[in-house]
Amino acid sequence: MTVVRKKLIAGNWKMNLTPSEAAALIDATLPLISEASCGVAMCVPAVDLPAAHDRLRGSRVTLGAQNIHWADKGAYTGELSAAMVQSVGAACVIIGHSERRQYFAETDAAVGMKTRAALAAGLLPIVCVGELKEERLSGQTSEVVTRQTLAALDGLTPDQVSSLVIAYEPVWAIGTGLVASDEQANETIGVIRGVVRNKFPTAADSVRILYGGSMNAQNAPGLLAQPEIDGGLIGGASLKPADFAAIVNAASQPLAAGS
Ligand code: 13P
Repeated sequence: MTVVRKKLIAGNWKMNLTPSEAAALIDATLPLISEASCGVAMCVPAVDLPAAHDRLRGSRVTLGAQNIHWADKGAYTGELSAAMVQSVGAACVIIGHSERRQYFAETDAAVGMKTRAALAAGLLPIVCVGELKEERLSGQTSEVVTRQTLAALDGLTPDQVSSLVIAYEPVWAIGTGLVASDEQANETIGVIRGVVRNKFPTAADSVRILYGGSMNAQNAPGLLAQPEIDGGLIGGASLKPADFAAIVNAASQPLAAGS
């Protein structure tokens, strides 16, 4: 049976734009994606959430945060809980981005705790996995994404897993202009879906797995045509209205007959 998963294009603005700049970017982007039939999300800096929420009202774009803490509250200076980002409009959240793993020492265990905290609060997690350049070169890609995926799935119910979004972001492709080939991305996403299937057989066909890493208007159509790739997590290009819109519109094309 062919399962049709609705594609999702999520922008990750990273540490860019003040609230007024965020409002201007949204105002410039929304008219270009008004015909989109795929899911669209914008994951913005926490300080931009209220302004973005205001500007996105009435649109079909899902607003997201880029990180949460796993605890409900407490002595965690500088951190934000799931309920806090939700209270200013976030409906989804990126968890375990490689920049957080690399620069803020986020472990697989922390990613698991944050994923569970997001789901418990009713936030949709977009959980990132992906190998370093050395890991790919030494043939460890499958092992790395398997370990990271299993940690993220730990303690979840099949229903929670079906609603999950996973983003495969090879670290060597992020912000480098070095995009994974269509086949590399499709193959590794297939490995990740296999890990999900092994543990949660009923959820594997529903979980959406995105590709991220130097995805742009030119390479998006090829990547999005791959059977395992359910959308994209977009960094740099999400800050450029025409480029982001081109990716969203590529993801909104119906699949060719028979595919
Ligand atoms: P770039 O699209 O800028 O490579 O970033 C990808 C990314 O990290 C999205 O989360």
